[in-house]
Amino acid sequence: MNEKILVLGSNGQIGTELVNALRNGYGNDNVVACDIRRPDYETKNAGPFEFVNVLDKDILKDIFNKYKPTQVYLLAALLSATGEQNPKLAWDLNMNGLLNVLDLALIYKTAKVYWPSSIAVFGPNSPKNNTPQYCTMDPNTVYGISKLAGERWCEYYFQKYNLDVRSIRYPGLISWKAAPGGGTTDYAIHIFHEALKKGSYASFLSATTELPMMYMEDAIRGTIELMDAPASQISIRSSYNFAGVSFTPEVLASEIRKHIPDFKLSYTENDPRQEIANSWPSSIDDSYAKKDWLWEPTFDLAKMTEDMLANLKK
Ligand code: SER
Repeated sequence: MNEKILVLGSNGQIGTELVNALRNGYGNDNVVACDIRRPDYETKNAGPFEFVNVLDKDILKDIFNKYKPTQVYLLAALLSATGEQNPKLAWDLNMNGLLNVLDLALIYKTAKVYWPSSIAVFGPNSPKNNTPQYCTMDPNTVYGISKLAGERWCEYYFQKYNLDVRSIRYPGLISWKAAPGGGTTDYAIHIFHEALKKGSYASFLSATTELPMMYMEDAIRGTIELMDAPASQISIRSSYNFAGVSFTPEVLASEIRKHIPDFKLSYTENDPRQEIANSWPSSIDDSYAKKDWLWEPTFDLAKMTEDMLANLKK
């Protein structure tokens, strides 16, 4: 089948790299980048771009009608830290954006929908280490609440309407191409920029805060592998646990020192993101993803650090 793919929220940290990867696989003209902001030069010139606000259902409908997409990736969202600054907007965008897309996907018979969830669906009473797929989930950020509710809607549309929705609970994503989008895990990107620029960094998360993370290259590959898997292999229609590496700021700093020996890490206090991080898992059990669609990460901490520094230096 000839695929036509919409990527909503194409200019963000994930969208920037996903659009490129999808265009490499499906051809530039078959992947339509959509965002509320102007795209960078490269994305704009490589293939089609549309200004779309996912909360504007009329415009969104026009886009579905124009392209009749076979696949839709909905990435437009407010992340954990930004969401806490504007809880109602976070709820509105994260929830109604999703419902708009799910409804239009039914009307226009979109074959597959992708929507990202997050480790933020877990909360203070979820097991911290090797957090299982199924456990207590009591998220205490609006972002986490919206992602957990969204997961339930995805499963609902699959069960009631047979819509092929697929989802991954992303950990913190580390990348160098586009800036991170206002999350609690953003320190793990800033640290690389500052290490190269200044030789020092003040982390807003404490030395011992361990969080699940993943290198973007792995995350993009995993996402496309999930979308390419036969529907019969997808046993989870809420969202899959998905794991790469887990580390603390201290451990990341030691790895950076293997390349920049004088790198100095200090810590700021009373950052609101610390409380969010405290409520999240330290590591994730992703055995369902491994079993169902053969997920396997390839970047460990050493390989990720080396690649980040090499690319940012350029
Ligand atoms: N990286 C995201 C955040 O920190 C987690 O989904 O908000």
